[in-house]
Amino acid sequence: MRISSGRGTVRVSEIDLYDPKVFSDGDPHAAWRTLRAEAPVRWQDLPDGRGFWSVTRYDDVRRVLGEYTEFTSERGAILKMLGVRDPAGGRQMAVSDPPRHTHVRRPLHQMLTMSALRSRVPRIHAAIRALLEPMVEGETFDLGAAMTALPMIVSGVVMGLPEQDHPELVRAGLMTVAPDDPEFQVDGSPEATLQQAHHDLFAYFGRQVRGRRGEPAGDLGDRDLIGRLMTMRVEGAPLSDGEIVSNCYSMLLGANVNTGHVVSAAILHLLDDPEQYDRWAKDETLLKTGIREALRWASPVVHFLRYAVADVEVRGQRIRAGDGVVAWIPSANRDEEVFADPFRFDVGREPNKEIAFGFGPHRCIGATAAQITLELTLREIFSRVASFEQAGEVDHLCSNFTAGIKHFPVTVRARR
Ligand code: HEM
Repeated sequence: MRISSGRGTVRVSEIDLYDPKVFSDGDPHAAWRTLRAEAPVRWQDLPDGRGFWSVTRYDDVRRVLGEYTEFTSERGAILKMLGVRDPAGGRQMAVSDPPRHTHVRRPLHQMLTMSALRSRVPRIHAAIRALLEPMVEGETFDLGAAMTALPMIVSGVVMGLPEQDHPELVRAGLMTVAPDDPEFQVDGSPEATLQQAHHDLFAYFGRQVRGRRGEPAGDLGDRDLIGRLMTMRVEGAPLSDGEIVSNCYSMLLGANVNTGHVVSAAILHLLDDPEQYDRWAKDETLLKTGIREALRWASPVVHFLRYAVADVEVRGQRIRAGDGVVAWIPSANRDEEVFADPFRFDVGREPNKEIAFGFGPHRCIGATAAQITLELTLREIFSRVASFEQAGEVDHLCSNFTAGIKHFPVTVRARR
């Protein structure tokens, strides 16, 4: 997704937040800024007769994401599938409401806390070093491509997936979240692309589950997230194979397409502000506040969809039971009423109430894993690179769901 100063002028009637091309080639921040000011709760009709609400202000985005009794996740959570009842509803964590959601989430979350992840850090760190090894003075390095591969390092470790499978899993993940992007498309068709990726990932995780069944049970539930899904009991019963595989699929997608964008988007912005890059790189006390600001700035997860459970009013607008409501996270993270000078990137920003990881019961279960990855990656970059220069065109992912930079060629001046 292109990140702009949001100053472009757009008429509310012309704003289309469904079209993925608006996010790769247009100016979504200008659209959101206009909506926040003029139509913070806005209905958009689609040519095929469907339609959806958009909420763009911070408080409304938090309410829609967090208040599951008003806005359910069980009918689907992605705009691309608007109006199609998600077959995984109530069976997959991301598209379930409490209390079942809580029963599935708790045992998985135990494996993603700081203390549970600590023993995995050396492996993750070594893989990050290897990923950044080719970023040396005199060579052109595609930071966008490297950062696209970054999250798989972590999901591979926490899900126990063999390294040789990583490139295919990254690709299948991108096909799922950006089926309109020509670089990942099958037969020039978003539908065929989605179907292929869905089929490949379900088949892959089916094999992973069968493989683990063939091994001695031993510590299966503590080995990795797939083992945990296979051994957990929810309300006294184990998950079905369909539920296990569906949760693996959702976990991979949740994990795989976000973290690297935080780094690419921040470095891209700081090309024009080398002094701030230098400050961030040299002052240890700014590491964490800078990461929080980069999360706010990049907001890699662009939206989540909910459906109104009953008729409800938001900011004076009547939303009818069954209507789809889209919460736009990057817009919430630029809300002028919450963030001072929201279009300024400030590595020292405090307070910073960004909600890049969402809000409420579904708030990202991998937030700590992402935080660890970002710290390790940025420390590594800061220790190697004194300054960056752009060395070619930046290519943005074509998706209204995930912000991503596919290609971002850079040259670097090494830190001596
Ligand atoms: C910077 C990186 C990341 C960002 C910005 C991000 C963002 C989000 C957001 C906004 C949600 C809320 C979904 C909703 O409200 O319906 C979410 C949920 C989720 N994320 Fe992340 N995520 C990141 C990294 C990760 C990682 C590393 C993992 C796995 C290790 C992960 C796994 C998930 C899962 C499984 C859910 C669903 C949780 C639930 O339904 O309770 N994410 N993420």
